[in-house]
This record gives sequence, structure tokens and C-alpha cells, in this order.
Amino acid sequence: MKAAFDFSGKNCVVAGGASGIGRSTAEHLAAAGANVAIADLNLEGAQQAAEKICTLGGRAEAFRMNAADPESAANAAEQIQRNFQQIHCLVNSVGIGAKAREGESFQETFERLIKVNLMGMFYSCSAFAEHMMGKGGTIVNIASMSATIVPAKTRPGRGGEYGLIGYCTSKGAVKMMTKSMAMLWSEYGIRANSVSPGYVDTPLTAEPHSNPELRKKLEDSVPLRRIARPEEIVQVILFLLSDASGYITGEDILADGGFTSR
Ligand SMILES: NC(=O)c1ccc[n+]([C@@H]2O[C@H](COP(=O)([O-])OP(=O)(O)OC[C@H]3O[C@@H](n4cnc5c(N)ncnc54)[C@H](O)[C@@H]3O)[C@@H](O)[C@H]2O)c1
Repeated sequence: MKAAFDFSGKNCVVAGGASGIGRSTAEHLAAAGANVAIADLNLEGAQQAAEKICTLGGRAEAFRMNAADPESAANAAEQIQRNFQQIHCLVNSVGIGAKAREGESFQETFERLIKVNLMGMFYSCSAFAEHMMGKGGTIVNIASMSATIVPAKTRPGRGGEYGLIGYCTSKGAVKMMTKSMAMLWSEYGIRANSVSPGYVDTPLTAEPHSNPELRKKLEDSVPLRRIARPEEIVQVILFLLSDASGYITGEDILADGGFTSR
């Protein structure tokens, strides 16, 4: 893996790093020299991701964190601060998809999406920022192109739309939350930006993306005519974490193959 950015000596936290975009981010950060803390609700997945990094000669540790619980987020941040001494970078790749659960009410679907995708990002940002204040740091939150547009409903039937309404609402709010944090925390030396991916192949999207008909429809709707690989989102995340973007804060970078420009 060729590293485009140098993170030697940097301690980086990847929340949601057990899977998908977060896991790939953790691997690329380690390959670029960072010490990585992987914090996830799925501790086993986080441990497996950390072990793989260590096997390849990197440094990584796994921590359990339920981002949607402020106490759990604060505990994880304290533990990571203790183990790593200083936290330079935070990536929030925590998230759940728009699919409604069997038997869930419309309200429950909407609230569950907001609780993880918005409140989870907020609790994680505020818990880790407490340890960055005054020392500096960079934060990257993963929003979505769904912060800007409403993608087509991929699941038929009544009720499903509340998942998509909750998802789009949470992502729009993450984008603005990140901008507010960037403006209000700049005096403490913290930069904050978001990345808004389009369609990406990850475990989160495995079900809809493995349906050949639907996949073709999605690919045809993207000007670049394909679905992204997680690595293509990771390069944008690493740029925003690195000193190469030292004068960028409060921004959202869309990596959507041109979808929202159409
Ligand atoms: N895959 C896509 O097409 C796509 C597109 C746009 C935006 N995104 C966003 O990118 C981010 C990462 O998604 P992904 O596709 O890699 O999904 P993923 O399911 O592969 O990874 C998400 C990770 O978040 C963790 N997580 C979920 N709830 C949590 C909680 N309460 N506390 C801590 N960890 C929790 C999961 O265990 C998992 O490891 C999400 O915010 C998602 O909304 C994904």
C-alpha cells in the first residue's frame, strides 16, 4: 500500500473502524505511519482490524465504544487518551443504513437513524475534542451525498421511506454540525471537515449492491458509471486529516462520481 500522506508520530482515532470505509481508513493511516485507535460498537470486528494492522507491522489498538451513548463515548475517549497520551486526529465513520426494521414504527425508525448517525457523531466529536482543546487536532466526519440530495428509494413498500428520511436528515445535520464545530473550535486549534461519499461498496451496502439489476441502475445513475471502492473515499479523508489541508476547515468534500452535479 503506497502512502500519499505521512502520519508518522500521529495518534489517530477511527470511530466505526471495524468495517467498511472506517476499516480501510484505519489500514491506510497505519500504512502511512500513524498509531491507530479503532473504536467501534463491534469490539470483535475492531480487534480483528487492529490485529491485521499489527501483523503488517503497524500499531493499532481496539476499543469498545457505543457512539450513540455519551457515557460510552466519553469512556472510550478517556481510555484512548490515557493509552496514546495525545489524540491528533479523529475520523467518525460510524453509521447505520436507511433500512427500516421489521415491526418498527415510523417514529422508531426515524429516531434510531438520528440517534446513531447524528447523535453518535456528536457524542464522539465532543468526547474526543475535549482532549484536543488547546493542543490542536483534526476531525473528519463521514456525511453523505444524501446530505445534499435524496437518493431513489431502493426498497419497496410503505414505511421504508422513514428510514431514508431519517438517513438524509441525519447526514444533512452532520454536515452543518461539522461546520459549526469548525467555526467554534478553531480558537482551540481544531480543524473539522466532512466527506460526503456517493455509492460505495461496503458491508453496509452489500445487500442492495449485490442485486445485479439494482446495481446496474445505480451505476447508470452515476456520471462516472460505477460504484466507489472504500479506498477512493479514504484518500479524501487522509487529505483532510493531513497538513496538506492545513488551511481548510468547515468544508464538505463530495466524492460521489459526479452524482450530485448532474
Ligand atoms: N457505503 C456507502 O455507500 C456510504 C455512502 C455515503 C455515506 N456513508 C457513510 O459512511 C460511514 C461508514 O459507512 P460504511 O459504508 O463503511 O458502513 P459499515 O457498516 O461497513 O461501517 C460502519 C461501522 O460503524 C459501526 N457502528 C454502527 N453503529 C455504531 C455505534 N452506535 N457506535 C459505534 N460504532 C458503530 C459499525 O459497527 C461499523 O463498524 C457511515 O456514516 C455511512 O452512513 C456510506
